[in-house]
Amino acid sequence: MIHPEFSPNIFLNHLAQTNPFPFLIPIEKAEGIYLYTPEGKRYMDLISGIGVTNIGHRHHKVVAAIKDQLDKHLHVMAYGEYIQSPSNLLAKKLVDVLPPNLSCSYFVNSGTEANEGALKLAKRYTGRTEIISFHKSYHGNTHGSLSVSGNEKKKNAFRPLLPDVRFIEFNNIDDLKQITSHTACVIMETIQGDAGVRIPSKEFMLALRKQCDETGALLILDEIQCGMGRSGTLFAFQQFGIVPDILTIAKAFGGGLPIGAFISSKEIMHCLTHNPMLGHITTFGGNPVCCASALATLEVLMKEKIIEQVEKKGQLMESLLQHPKIKAIRRIGLMFAVDFDLEEQVQRIVKNALDNGVICFWFLSCPNSFRIAPPLTISEDEIREACSVILRAIEKL
Ligand SMILES: Cc1ncc(COP(=O)(O)O)c(C=O)c1O
Repeated sequence: MIHPEFSPNIFLNHLAQTNPFPFLIPIEKAEGIYLYTPEGKRYMDLISGIGVTNIGHRHHKVVAAIKDQLDKHLHVMAYGEYIQSPSNLLAKKLVDVLPPNLSCSYFVNSGTEANEGALKLAKRYTGRTEIISFHKSYHGNTHGSLSVSGNEKKKNAFRPLLPDVRFIEFNNIDDLKQITSHTACVIMETIQGDAGVRIPSKEFMLALRKQCDETGALLILDEIQCGMGRSGTLFAFQQFGIVPDILTIAKAFGGGLPIGAFISSKEIMHCLTHNPMLGHITTFGGNPVCCASALATLEVLMKEKIIEQVEKKGQLMESLLQHPKIKAIRRIGLMFAVDFDLEEQVQRIVKNALDNGVICFWFLSCPNSFRIAPPLTISEDEIREACSVILRAIEKL
């Protein structure tokens, strides 16, 4: 008999299901780049729990920081009343690593909430309502974030959504003309993740920043997936010579605990304090254990020379992933989309790699590709091993 802890029956019938074909792998333990089943089968996690474990699972410094905070206090008060050491230290650490205008953080519990806060802030600050987003974008699943996400198939069943949202073409300079003095904000993933790793040109990013400056629209960059070292710099926008007005982060920010943030200037953020006061509130935002975990994660990323090695590791992986059946690879840092002719080929490769202990995954809006985004701490030997399993899976097609 299967123990209830890992019973597929409980999982399938008593936990809400959104995916008709879940992996159904029981996970008992995770360490570094590996996941372990109760029977001791080991999987290489090449997707970092979808963009979360950039410094690997259970980094010892993160675990120690969490344990240390557990011994002091857990939740004590809803957002923004008491002064708590983990959120203070985390806010200060972000000031140290971000450009001067991104000096004021609002901590929330997830990526979608970070975007909700950012959109509200932009509307409140500019007094405008129009929001511009990009086709194929993904910003989360709550109503506001869904409204500004580009996948029509996933959105339609949930209408009506936010009014006054317009979509323009990613990386198309001509389309930037649609940003006008009516626009409250433009929200963009610096690197489109679930569209299959779409990388904009520097020229486009400079033109986008200019158009926002000229029209007074705020620029929100969503680095929930591409941030925290994934692209080879701490934040991807640093590679394009621009700075957003509002930055949103989550996923890898918490090192495995749930936390997100929208970050802006004190001047912009100040408008959440008045007319109305409590312009954005949350009970658990800035949770002390999550902030302690995020702070330790950021310190590991900055001190352990992890980001400096990302590009080299990315290049190695790309050079190994050569096969005539691969149609294209899009990559920045250690964020990959590997394209094939057919969706069915992608399904078979992911399944075969999984059977052989390597976890790759699909994209929400790019069916002919699979994703690879391993922990940034993956070693060169582990990269070689992972690639040989993937190449064998491709060979089997
Ligand atoms: C770019 C981007 N924005 C927002 C989100 C939503 O984050 P969360 O799932 O934490 O709500 C995601 C999640 O995949 C994402 O990739």
